[in-house]
Amino acid sequence: MSTAAPALAPDLVDGLRRLKLAAMRQLAPELLRTAKTQRWAPEELLRTLVEAEITARDASNARTRLKTAAFPVIKTLDEFDRTVSTINNATLDYLASLEWITARENLCLVGPAGTGKSHLLVALGVAAVTAGHRVRYFTAAELVETLYRGLADNSVGRVIDTLLRNDLIICDEVGFAPLDDTGAQLLFRFIAAAYERRALGIASHWPFESWGRFLPEHTTAVSLLDRLLHHANVVITDGESYRMREARTRHKGGTTNS
Ligand SMILES: Nc1ncnc2c1ncn2[C@@H]1O[C@H](COP(=O)(O)OP(=O)(O)OP(=O)(O)O)[C@@H](O)[C@H]1O
Ligand SMILES: [Mg+2]
Repeated sequence: MSTAAPALAPDLVDGLRRLKLAAMRQLAPELLRTAKTQRWAPEELLRTLVEAEITARDASNARTRLKTAAFPVIKTLDEFDRTVSTINNATLDYLASLEWITARENLCLVGPAGTGKSHLLVALGVAAVTAGHRVRYFTAAELVETLYRGLADNSVGRVIDTLLRNDLIICDEVGFAPLDDTGAQLLFRFIAAAYERRALGIASHWPFESWGRFLPEHTTAVSLLDRLLHHANVVITDGESYRMREARTRHKGGTTNS
């Protein structure tokens, strides 16, 4: 049985705590002992400590980014079954490369219910967070509500600036609920501000020619789509609802729980 490594000197513990080097503080006793018994070069010990701190810091930052992204559920690209999706492999590969985020292109997913739009948006968002990007997920209703709140104290500009600190802003379920004039104008203002500055990920079950149905003013719909689609990857999803497919499979299998 191995004995515990000797504790660090109190002044070192204090110093590492003050510098917020928690991983180093935690690992140092064991690593110092290993370094001594295995006769590591001093540089190797320092490198191991620094690498441990960086790894811990990266993981902690990724956890924070994942939390602030506010995904409704966590979905991954690995869980996305390409064989049941109508999106072709080349498109999925390009989206998974996340190059479009760095290039500030948009992704517009359009297709009927249950065809994987939200799954793909969230999975790409999660992949982007893992790759070090800042991401924020909204439904269109939540986004408009957030902008609306800024109207009350005249801070819409500031709210938009804060949102644009993210590398990717996701706006899901566009068109589920109709927008009033103010809501449409706020959405337009946001999309105009993000234009060529940040990547947007949008999903809607309405084809673009029908966006006039939930955007009350025709001109808003035209100007909004003009900006949204200028540098956009438009991806049409089709086919049977994955939810329906699963429900049928369950039914066939005789399982009754949902
Ligand atoms: N290709 C796929 N592989 C694995 N799971 C899938 C796939 N497509 C859809 N799903 C699953 O089916 C369910 C519905 O998919 P999703 O929520 O992405 O649909 P949607 O296109 O956003 O529908 P809606 O327009 O109703 O919002 C989710 O649980 C999702 O994980
Ligand atoms: Mg959805």
